[in-house]
Amino acid sequence: MNTAIILAAGQGTRMKSQTAKVLHKVGNKCLLQHVVDASSDHVETINVIVGHNSQAVKAAMPKNKINWVLQEKQLGTGHAVQQAIPFINDDSICLILYGDVPLLQSKTLEELLIKARPSGFSLLSVVLNDPFGYGRIIRDSNGLIQSIVEQKDASESELKVKEINTGIMAIQGSLLKRYLNELKPNNVQGELYLTDIVESAVKDNVNITSFVCENASEVMGINDKKQLSQAERSYQVRQAEDLMSSGLTIMDPRRFDCRGDLNFGDDCTIDVNVVFEGDNVLGKNVMISPNCIIKDSKIGDNTSILPNSIIENSIIGSSTTIGPFARIRPDTTIGDHSKVGNFVEVKKSTIKSNSKVSHLSYIGDSNIGADVNIGAGVITCNYDGSNKHQTEVKDGAFIGSNSQLVAPVIIGKNATIGAGSTITQNAPDDKLTLSRNKQSTIDKWKRPTKK
Ligand code: UD1
Ligand code: CA
Repeated sequence: MNTAIILAAGQGTRMKSQTAKVLHKVGNKCLLQHVVDASSDHVETINVIVGHNSQAVKAAMPKNKINWVLQEKQLGTGHAVQQAIPFINDDSICLILYGDVPLLQSKTLEELLIKARPSGFSLLSVVLNDPFGYGRIIRDSNGLIQSIVEQKDASESELKVKEINTGIMAIQGSLLKRYLNELKPNNVQGELYLTDIVESAVKDNVNITSFVCENASEVMGINDKKQLSQAERSYQVRQAEDLMSSGLTIMDPRRFDCRGDLNFGDDCTIDVNVVFEGDNVLGKNVMISPNCIIKDSKIGDNTSILPNSIIENSIIGSSTTIGPFARIRPDTTIGDHSKVGNFVEVKKSTIKSNSKVSHLSYIGDSNIGADVNIGAGVITCNYDGSNKHQTEVKDGAFIGSNSQLVAPVIIGKNATIGAGSTITQNAPDDKLTLSRNKQSTIDKWKRPTKK
Protein backbone atom coordinates (compact mmCIF):
# COMPACT_ATOMS: atom_id res chain seq x y z
CA MET A 1 0.00 0.00 0.00
CA ASN A 2 2.97 2.33 -0.51
CA THR A 3 2.94 5.42 -2.70
CA ALA A 4 5.72 7.14 -4.61
CA ILE A 5 6.05 10.85 -5.26
CA ILE A 6 8.62 11.67 -7.90
CA LEU A 7 9.72 15.29 -8.23
CA ALA A 8 10.25 16.29 -11.83
CA ALA A 9 9.03 19.85 -12.20
CA GLY A 10 12.37 21.67 -12.36
CA GLN A 11 13.71 23.21 -15.54
CA GLY A 12 17.21 21.80 -15.56
CA THR A 13 18.77 25.00 -16.92
CA ARG A 14 22.29 23.63 -16.67
CA MET A 15 21.57 20.90 -19.21
CA LYS A 16 21.45 23.70 -21.81
CA SER A 17 18.89 21.77 -23.81
CA GLN A 18 15.41 22.13 -25.30
CA THR A 19 14.59 18.71 -23.88
CA ALA A 20 13.15 18.45 -20.36
CA LYS A 21 15.87 17.31 -17.95
CA VAL A 22 14.12 14.10 -16.91
CA LEU A 23 13.77 13.06 -20.57
CA HIS A 24 17.51 12.87 -21.11
CA LYS A 25 18.67 9.29 -21.38
CA VAL A 26 20.91 6.85 -19.58
CA GLY A 27 21.26 3.49 -21.32
CA ASN A 28 18.80 4.86 -23.91
CA LYS A 29 16.08 5.03 -21.25
CA CYS A 30 14.91 8.40 -19.96
CA LEU A 31 15.91 9.42 -16.43
CA LEU A 32 12.34 9.51 -15.18
CA GLN A 33 11.65 6.01 -16.50
CA HIS A 34 14.61 4.68 -14.50
CA VAL A 35 13.11 6.14 -11.33
CA VAL A 36 9.63 4.83 -12.13
CA ASP A 37 11.07 1.35 -12.76
CA ALA A 38 13.06 1.30 -9.49
CA SER A 39 10.03 2.33 -7.45
CA SER A 40 7.36 0.26 -9.16
CA ASP A 41 8.40 -2.92 -7.29
CA HIS A 42 7.49 -1.25 -4.00
CA VAL A 43 4.48 0.97 -4.57
CA GLU A 44 0.93 0.78 -5.78
CA THR A 45 0.62 4.32 -7.09
CA ILE A 46 3.19 6.62 -8.60
CA ASN A 47 2.63 10.38 -8.50
CA VAL A 48 4.93 12.44 -10.69
CA ILE A 49 5.15 16.16 -10.05
CA VAL A 50 5.63 17.98 -13.35
CA GLY A 51 5.99 21.65 -14.25
CA HIS A 52 8.44 22.73 -16.94
CA ASN A 53 7.79 20.93 -20.24
CA SER A 54 5.04 18.93 -18.56
CA GLN A 55 3.31 18.05 -21.84
CA ALA A 56 6.48 16.62 -23.33
CA VAL A 57 7.25 14.67 -20.17
CA LYS A 58 3.79 13.09 -20.07
CA ALA A 59 3.86 12.31 -23.79
CA ALA A 60 7.23 10.57 -23.49
CA MET A 61 5.93 8.02 -20.98
CA PRO A 62 2.66 6.69 -22.37
CA LYS A 63 3.08 3.10 -21.17
CA ASN A 64 3.23 3.90 -17.46
CA LYS A 65 0.44 4.03 -14.94
CA ILE A 66 1.23 7.43 -13.49
CA ASN A 67 -0.82 10.04 -11.66
CA TRP A 68 0.51 13.28 -13.15
CA VAL A 69 0.42 16.21 -10.74
CA LEU A 70 1.06 19.74 -12.00
CA GLN A 71 3.18 22.15 -9.99
CA GLU A 72 2.64 25.38 -11.89
CA LYS A 73 5.33 27.42 -10.18
CA GLN A 74 8.46 25.81 -8.74
CA LEU A 75 8.43 27.19 -5.23
CA GLY A 76 10.67 24.53 -3.71
CA THR A 77 10.80 20.80 -3.04
CA GLY A 78 8.33 21.12 -0.13
CA HIS A 79 5.88 23.00 -2.33
CA ALA A 80 6.29 20.29 -4.99
CA VAL A 81 5.31 17.52 -2.56
CA GLN A 82 2.40 19.62 -1.23
CA GLN A 83 0.79 19.37 -4.68
CA ALA A 84 0.39 15.62 -4.15
CA ILE A 85 -1.36 15.87 -0.76
CA PRO A 86 -4.79 14.91 -2.17
CA PHE A 87 -3.32 11.60 -3.36
CA ILE A 88 -1.61 10.59 -0.12
CA ASN A 89 -3.21 8.04 2.20
CA ASP A 90 -2.66 8.58 5.92
CA ASP A 91 -1.67 5.00 6.57
CA SER A 92 0.53 4.39 3.53
CA ILE A 93 4.28 4.93 3.40
CA CYS A 94 5.34 7.55 0.87
CA LEU A 95 8.61 7.22 -1.04
CA ILE A 96 9.88 10.62 -2.10
CA LEU A 97 12.07 10.36 -5.16
CA TYR A 98 13.63 12.63 -7.79
CA GLY A 99 13.27 12.39 -11.54
CA ASP A 100 16.89 13.39 -12.02
CA VAL A 101 18.38 10.69 -9.74
CA PRO A 102 18.18 7.71 -12.11
CA LEU A 103 20.62 5.13 -10.74
CA LEU A 104 18.79 4.41 -7.51
CA GLN A 105 18.36 0.65 -7.10
CA SER A 106 15.18 -1.11 -6.19
CA LYS A 107 16.94 -2.97 -3.35
CA THR A 108 18.08 0.30 -1.76
CA LEU A 109 14.45 1.41 -1.61
CA GLU A 110 13.60 -1.91 -0.01
CA GLU A 111 16.17 -1.24 2.75
CA LEU A 112 14.89 2.28 3.22
CA LEU A 113 11.31 1.03 3.58
CA ILE A 114 12.41 -1.47 6.22
CA LYS A 115 14.16 1.33 8.15
CA ALA A 116 11.02 3.47 7.97
CA ARG A 117 8.79 0.82 9.55
CA PRO A 118 9.33 1.48 13.30
CA SER A 119 8.95 5.28 13.44
CA GLY A 120 7.35 6.00 10.06
CA PHE A 121 10.19 8.24 8.88
CA SER A 122 13.52 7.32 7.32
CA LEU A 123 16.03 9.26 5.22
CA LEU A 124 18.42 7.95 2.61
CA SER A 125 21.83 9.48 3.24
CA VAL A 126 25.30 9.03 1.82
CA VAL A 127 28.80 9.92 3.03
CA LEU A 128 30.74 12.05 0.55
CA ASN A 129 34.38 13.16 0.67
CA ASP A 130 33.29 16.40 -0.92
CA PRO A 131 29.82 17.26 0.40
CA PHE A 132 29.79 20.73 -1.21
CA GLY A 133 26.35 21.85 -2.40
CA TYR A 134 24.34 19.23 -0.50
CA GLY A 135 22.12 19.48 2.55
CA ARG A 136 24.04 18.17 5.60
CA ILE A 137 22.51 15.67 8.06
CA ILE A 138 22.88 17.15 11.55
CA ARG A 139 22.87 14.65 14.44
CA ASP A 140 22.95 15.20 18.20
CA SER A 141 25.56 13.71 20.56
CA ASN A 142 23.58 10.45 20.65
CA GLY A 143 23.65 10.19 16.87
CA LEU A 144 19.96 10.98 16.50
CA ILE A 145 19.02 13.03 13.46
CA GLN A 146 18.15 16.64 14.40
CA SER A 147 17.84 18.49 11.09
CA ILE A 148 19.06 18.96 7.57
CA VAL A 149 20.88 22.20 6.80
CA GLU A 150 21.30 23.38 3.22
CA GLN A 151 24.75 24.48 1.98
CA LYS A 152 23.55 28.07 1.66
CA ASP A 153 22.18 28.12 5.21
CA ALA A 154 24.91 26.12 6.99
CA SER A 155 27.34 27.34 9.69
CA GLU A 156 31.07 26.63 9.49
CA SER A 157 30.87 23.55 11.71
CA GLU A 158 27.82 22.24 9.88
CA LEU A 159 29.67 22.57 6.56
CA LYS A 160 32.24 20.03 7.84
CA VAL A 161 29.61 17.27 8.05
CA LYS A 162 30.14 14.67 5.31
CA GLU A 163 26.91 12.73 5.65
CA ILE A 164 24.52 14.38 3.23
CA ASN A 165 20.85 14.22 2.46
CA THR A 166 20.07 12.53 -0.82
CA GLY A 167 16.58 14.03 -0.62
CA ILE A 168 15.14 10.55 -0.90
CA MET A 169 12.96 9.51 2.01
CA ALA A 170 10.23 7.15 3.16
CA ILE A 171 7.57 8.64 5.41
CA GLN A 172 4.15 7.72 6.73
CA GLY A 173 1.38 9.61 4.88
CA SER A 174 -0.18 11.14 7.98
CA LEU A 175 3.18 12.50 9.20
CA LEU A 176 4.07 13.85 5.78
CA LYS A 177 0.79 15.74 5.50
CA ARG A 178 1.08 17.20 9.00
CA TYR A 179 4.65 18.49 8.47
CA LEU A 180 4.02 19.75 4.93
CA ASN A 181 1.38 22.06 6.38
CA GLU A 182 3.94 23.54 8.77
CA LEU A 183 6.50 24.50 6.10
CA LYS A 184 7.60 28.13 5.90
CA PRO A 185 9.98 29.78 3.42
CA ASN A 186 12.48 30.74 6.14
CA ASN A 187 15.66 30.33 4.12
CA VAL A 188 18.07 32.10 1.78
CA GLN A 189 16.20 30.97 -1.34
CA GLY A 190 12.76 31.90 -0.01
CA GLU A 191 11.48 28.44 -1.00
CA LEU A 192 9.48 25.78 0.81
CA TYR A 193 12.15 23.19 1.62
CA LEU A 194 10.94 19.61 1.96
CA THR A 195 13.90 18.98 4.23
CA ASP A 196 12.39 21.24 6.91
CA ILE A 197 9.90 18.48 7.73
CA VAL A 198 12.81 16.81 9.54
CA GLU A 199 12.89 19.52 12.23
CA SER A 200 9.11 19.32 12.65
CA ALA A 201 9.35 15.57 13.13
CA VAL A 202 12.16 15.97 15.67
CA LYS A 203 10.03 18.44 17.66
CA ASP A 204 7.25 15.88 17.47
CA ASN A 205 9.62 13.27 19.01
CA VAL A 206 9.60 11.08 15.90
CA ASN A 207 12.72 8.94 15.90
CA ILE A 208 13.98 9.53 12.36
CA THR A 209 16.16 6.71 11.09
CA SER A 210 18.45 6.71 8.11
CA PHE A 211 19.75 4.21 5.63
CA VAL A 212 23.25 5.10 4.52
CA CYS A 213 23.60 4.24 0.86
CA GLU A 214 26.99 2.61 0.21
CA ASN A 215 27.31 3.57 -3.41
CA ALA A 216 27.34 7.33 -3.99
CA SER A 217 26.73 6.98 -7.73
CA GLU A 218 23.33 5.47 -6.97
CA VAL A 219 22.08 8.72 -5.50
CA MET A 220 23.83 11.15 -7.83
CA GLY A 221 21.59 13.83 -9.23
CA ILE A 222 22.04 14.93 -12.81
CA ASN A 223 22.29 18.63 -13.47
CA ASP A 224 24.52 18.92 -16.51
CA LYS A 225 25.89 16.95 -19.44
CA LYS A 226 29.05 16.00 -17.59
CA GLN A 227 27.05 14.36 -14.82
CA LEU A 228 24.87 12.72 -17.46
CA SER A 229 27.95 11.08 -18.99
CA GLN A 230 29.17 9.98 -15.54
CA ALA A 231 25.77 8.43 -14.83
CA GLU A 232 25.86 6.64 -18.18
CA ARG A 233 29.26 5.09 -17.39
CA SER A 234 28.25 4.06 -13.86
CA TYR A 235 25.09 2.52 -15.25
CA GLN A 236 26.98 0.59 -17.94
CA VAL A 237 29.60 -0.73 -15.51
CA ARG A 238 26.90 -1.81 -13.09
CA GLN A 239 25.04 -3.55 -15.90
CA ALA A 240 28.23 -5.25 -17.11
CA GLU A 241 28.89 -6.49 -13.57
CA ASP A 242 25.36 -7.90 -13.32
CA LEU A 243 25.75 -9.64 -16.69
CA MET A 244 29.15 -11.05 -15.71
CA SER A 245 27.71 -12.42 -12.48
CA SER A 246 25.11 -14.19 -14.63
CA GLY A 247 27.94 -15.78 -16.59
CA LEU A 248 28.61 -13.49 -19.54
CA THR A 249 32.29 -13.03 -20.40
CA ILE A 250 32.99 -9.35 -20.99
CA MET A 251 36.58 -8.56 -21.98
CA ASP A 252 36.49 -5.05 -20.52
CA PRO A 253 33.45 -3.79 -18.59
CA ARG A 254 34.66 -0.21 -19.11
CA ARG A 255 34.24 -0.66 -22.84
CA PHE A 256 30.83 -2.29 -22.84
CA ASP A 257 27.51 -0.66 -23.69
CA CYS A 258 24.08 -2.17 -23.50
CA ARG A 259 21.21 0.19 -24.23
CA GLY A 260 18.35 -2.21 -23.69
CA ASP A 261 17.93 -5.87 -22.77
CA LEU A 262 20.45 -8.62 -23.38
CA ASN A 263 19.66 -12.30 -22.94
CA PHE A 264 22.33 -14.92 -23.46
CA GLY A 265 23.14 -18.61 -23.15
CA ASP A 266 26.22 -20.20 -21.59
CA ASP A 267 29.75 -19.31 -22.64
CA CYS A 268 29.17 -16.16 -24.67
CA THR A 269 32.04 -13.71 -25.01
CA ILE A 270 31.78 -10.01 -25.70
CA ASP A 271 34.99 -8.34 -26.81
CA VAL A 272 35.67 -4.61 -26.41
CA ASN A 273 33.61 -1.72 -27.75
CA VAL A 274 30.53 -3.71 -28.60
CA VAL A 275 27.26 -1.76 -28.43
CA PHE A 276 23.97 -3.59 -27.86
CA GLU A 277 20.79 -1.65 -28.56
CA GLY A 278 17.17 -2.66 -27.95
CA ASP A 279 16.32 -6.31 -27.30
CA ASN A 280 18.98 -8.84 -28.16
CA VAL A 281 19.15 -12.58 -27.61
CA LEU A 282 22.35 -14.62 -27.90
CA GLY A 283 22.37 -18.42 -27.93
CA LYS A 284 25.15 -20.50 -26.37
CA ASN A 285 28.83 -19.97 -27.11
CA VAL A 286 28.32 -16.84 -29.19
CA MET A 287 31.38 -14.69 -29.80
CA ILE A 288 31.04 -10.98 -30.53
CA SER A 289 34.33 -9.45 -31.67
CA PRO A 290 35.43 -5.83 -31.14
CA ASN A 291 33.54 -2.83 -32.49
CA CYS A 292 30.26 -4.49 -33.38
CA ILE A 293 26.82 -2.90 -33.07
CA ILE A 294 23.99 -5.36 -32.46
CA LYS A 295 20.44 -4.07 -32.40
CA ASP A 296 17.14 -5.93 -31.82
CA SER A 297 18.57 -9.21 -33.12
CA LYS A 298 18.80 -12.87 -32.32
CA ILE A 299 22.02 -14.82 -32.78
CA GLY A 300 22.18 -18.63 -32.68
CA ASP A 301 24.49 -21.04 -30.85
CA ASN A 302 28.20 -21.19 -31.77
CA THR A 303 27.99 -18.22 -34.10
CA SER A 304 30.78 -15.67 -34.36
CA ILE A 305 30.32 -12.04 -35.23
CA LEU A 306 33.72 -10.82 -36.43
CA PRO A 307 35.04 -7.28 -35.90
CA ASN A 308 33.35 -4.12 -37.09
CA SER A 309 30.05 -5.68 -38.07
CA ILE A 310 26.60 -4.14 -37.70
CA ILE A 311 23.49 -6.27 -37.29
CA GLU A 312 20.03 -4.74 -37.00
CA ASN A 313 16.62 -6.31 -36.54
CA SER A 314 17.75 -9.66 -37.92
CA ILE A 315 17.97 -13.33 -37.06
CA ILE A 316 21.28 -15.14 -37.43
CA GLY A 317 21.40 -18.95 -37.25
CA SER A 318 23.84 -21.20 -35.43
CA SER A 319 27.45 -22.03 -36.31
CA THR A 320 27.43 -19.11 -38.72
CA THR A 321 30.08 -16.42 -39.25
CA ILE A 322 29.31 -12.79 -39.91
CA GLY A 323 31.99 -10.23 -40.84
CA PRO A 324 34.49 -8.76 -40.42
CA PHE A 325 33.01 -5.53 -41.73
CA ALA A 326 29.60 -6.97 -42.57
CA ARG A 327 26.38 -5.00 -42.44
CA ILE A 328 23.17 -6.94 -41.85
CA ARG A 329 20.23 -4.60 -42.29
CA PRO A 330 16.68 -5.07 -40.95
CA ASP A 331 14.44 -8.03 -41.80
CA THR A 332 17.23 -10.38 -42.68
CA THR A 333 17.34 -14.05 -41.73
CA ILE A 334 20.54 -16.02 -42.11
CA GLY A 335 20.59 -19.79 -41.64
CA ASP A 336 22.91 -22.23 -39.90
CA HIS A 337 26.51 -22.99 -40.98
CA SER A 338 26.48 -19.99 -43.29
CA LYS A 339 28.94 -17.21 -43.91
CA VAL A 340 28.54 -13.53 -44.66
CA GLY A 341 32.02 -12.13 -45.06
CA ASN A 342 33.97 -8.91 -45.50
CA PHE A 343 32.25 -5.84 -46.85
CA VAL A 344 28.99 -7.62 -47.54
CA GLU A 345 25.71 -5.76 -47.10
CA VAL A 346 22.51 -7.77 -46.75
CA LYS A 347 19.10 -6.11 -46.61
CA LYS A 348 15.60 -7.57 -46.17
CA SER A 349 16.76 -10.96 -47.39
CA THR A 350 16.85 -14.60 -46.42
CA ILE A 351 19.99 -16.66 -46.79
CA LYS A 352 19.43 -20.33 -45.96
CA SER A 353 21.81 -22.82 -44.35
CA ASN A 354 25.28 -23.73 -45.64
CA SER A 355 25.38 -20.76 -47.98
CA LYS A 356 28.24 -18.35 -48.41
CA VAL A 357 28.49 -14.73 -49.42
CA SER A 358 32.12 -14.23 -48.62
CA HIS A 359 33.30 -10.95 -50.10
CA LEU A 360 32.21 -7.51 -51.31
CA SER A 361 28.54 -8.14 -52.16
CA TYR A 362 25.18 -6.43 -51.94
CA ILE A 363 22.24 -8.75 -51.34
CA GLY A 364 18.93 -6.88 -51.13
CA ASP A 365 15.27 -8.03 -51.29
CA SER A 366 16.52 -11.54 -52.00
CA ASN A 367 15.74 -15.11 -51.20
CA ILE A 368 18.92 -17.15 -51.26
CA GLY A 369 18.51 -20.92 -50.85
CA ALA A 370 20.68 -23.47 -49.06
CA ASP A 371 24.15 -24.57 -50.24
CA VAL A 372 24.50 -21.51 -52.41
CA ASN A 373 27.86 -19.91 -53.16
CA ILE A 374 27.82 -16.26 -54.06
CA GLY A 375 31.16 -15.15 -55.50
CA ALA A 376 33.05 -11.99 -54.69
CA GLY A 377 31.50 -8.74 -55.79
CA VAL A 378 28.06 -10.09 -56.75
CA ILE A 379 25.36 -7.42 -56.70
CA THR A 380 21.61 -7.89 -56.66
CA CYS A 381 20.27 -4.93 -58.63
CA ASN A 382 17.05 -4.61 -56.65
CA TYR A 383 16.11 -1.03 -57.51
CA ASP A 384 15.12 0.29 -60.91
CA GLY A 385 15.05 3.90 -59.78
CA SER A 386 11.39 3.73 -58.80
CA ASN A 387 10.59 0.29 -57.39
CA LYS A 388 12.28 -2.52 -55.53
CA HIS A 389 12.27 -6.04 -57.01
CA GLN A 390 13.01 -9.53 -55.71
CA THR A 391 15.87 -11.83 -56.54
CA GLU A 392 15.57 -15.55 -55.98
CA VAL A 393 18.52 -17.90 -55.94
CA LYS A 394 17.54 -21.56 -55.53
CA ASP A 395 19.37 -24.24 -53.55
CA GLY A 396 22.82 -25.27 -54.71
CA ALA A 397 23.32 -22.40 -57.17
CA PHE A 398 26.79 -20.96 -57.81
CA ILE A 399 27.02 -17.30 -58.78
CA GLY A 400 30.37 -16.40 -60.40
CA SER A 401 32.26 -13.40 -59.10
CA ASN A 402 31.39 -9.88 -60.15
CA SER A 403 27.98 -10.81 -61.56
CA GLN A 404 24.92 -8.61 -61.42
CA LEU A 405 21.52 -10.17 -60.88
CA VAL A 406 19.01 -7.65 -62.23
CA ALA A 407 15.75 -8.14 -60.32
CA PRO A 408 13.14 -9.43 -60.70
CA VAL A 409 15.05 -12.57 -61.58
CA ILE A 410 15.21 -16.26 -60.57
CA ILE A 411 18.36 -18.37 -60.61
CA GLY A 412 17.43 -22.05 -60.78
CA LYS A 413 18.42 -24.97 -58.59
CA ASN A 414 22.08 -25.97 -58.96
CA ALA A 415 22.43 -23.36 -61.71
CA THR A 416 25.86 -21.86 -62.36
CA ILE A 417 26.34 -18.26 -63.42
CA GLY A 418 29.61 -17.49 -65.19
CA ALA A 419 31.77 -14.81 -63.59
CA GLY A 420 31.22 -11.25 -64.77
CA SER A 421 27.70 -11.87 -66.09
CA THR A 422 24.84 -9.41 -66.07
CA ILE A 423 21.78 -11.60 -65.64
CA THR A 424 18.49 -10.00 -66.67
CA GLN A 425 16.43 -13.13 -67.33
CA ASN A 426 15.73 -16.25 -65.29
CA ALA A 427 18.50 -18.85 -65.38
CA PRO A 428 17.43 -22.53 -65.61
CA ASP A 429 18.22 -25.30 -63.10
CA ASP A 430 21.44 -27.31 -63.43
CA LYS A 431 22.91 -25.33 -66.36
CA LEU A 432 25.69 -22.82 -66.88
CA THR A 433 24.33 -19.42 -67.84
CA LEU A 434 26.55 -16.51 -68.70
CA SER A 435 26.34 -13.21 -70.48
CA ARG A 436 29.68 -11.90 -71.59
CA ASN A 437 31.34 -10.69 -74.76
CA LYS A 438 33.76 -13.17 -76.24
CA GLN A 439 37.33 -12.35 -75.23
CA SER A 440 39.42 -10.89 -78.06
CA THR A 441 42.94 -9.59 -78.50
CA ILE A 442 43.78 -6.62 -80.76
CA ASP A 443 47.18 -7.26 -82.25
CA LYS A 444 48.05 -3.81 -83.61
CA TRP A 445 47.01 -1.87 -80.50
CA LYS A 446 49.73 0.18 -78.79
CA ARG A 447 49.75 2.00 -75.50
CA PRO A 448 49.61 5.77 -75.97
CA THR A 449 52.90 7.54 -75.23
CA LYS A 450 53.31 10.69 -73.17
CA LYS A 451 53.33 13.92 -75.25
C1 UD1 B 1 17.75 18.98 -2.63
C2 UD1 B 1 17.66 18.93 -1.09
C3 UD1 B 1 19.07 18.73 -0.49
C4 UD1 B 1 19.73 17.50 -1.09
C5 UD1 B 1 19.72 17.57 -2.63
C6 UD1 B 1 20.19 16.25 -3.21
C7 UD1 B 1 15.80 20.41 -0.44
C8 UD1 B 1 15.44 21.74 0.06
N1 UD1 B 1 17.11 20.17 -0.63
O1 UD1 B 1 18.50 20.15 -2.95
O2 UD1 B 1 18.96 18.60 0.92
O3 UD1 B 1 21.05 17.38 -0.62
O4 UD1 B 1 18.37 17.78 -3.13
O5 UD1 B 1 20.32 16.35 -4.62
O6 UD1 B 1 14.94 19.56 -0.68
N2 UD1 B 1 11.78 20.31 -7.86
C9 UD1 B 1 10.45 20.41 -8.18
N3 UD1 B 1 9.77 21.52 -7.82
C10 UD1 B 1 10.34 22.54 -7.14
C11 UD1 B 1 11.71 22.44 -6.80
C12 UD1 B 1 12.41 21.31 -7.17
O7 UD1 B 1 9.90 19.51 -8.80
O8 UD1 B 1 9.64 23.51 -6.85
C13 UD1 B 1 12.53 19.13 -8.26
C14 UD1 B 1 13.64 19.47 -9.23
O9 UD1 B 1 13.21 19.31 -10.57
C15 UD1 B 1 14.72 18.47 -8.88
C16 UD1 B 1 14.46 18.12 -7.42
O10 UD1 B 1 13.15 18.56 -7.13
O11 UD1 B 1 14.58 17.29 -9.62
C17 UD1 B 1 15.47 18.73 -6.45
O12 UD1 B 1 15.36 20.15 -6.49
P1 UD1 B 1 16.61 21.11 -6.37
O13 UD1 B 1 16.13 22.51 -6.38
O14 UD1 B 1 17.61 20.72 -7.38
O15 UD1 B 1 17.11 20.78 -4.90
P2 UD1 B 1 18.59 20.80 -4.42
O16 UD1 B 1 19.04 22.21 -4.24
O17 UD1 B 1 19.41 19.93 -5.29
CA1 CA C 1 19.56 19.32 -7.51
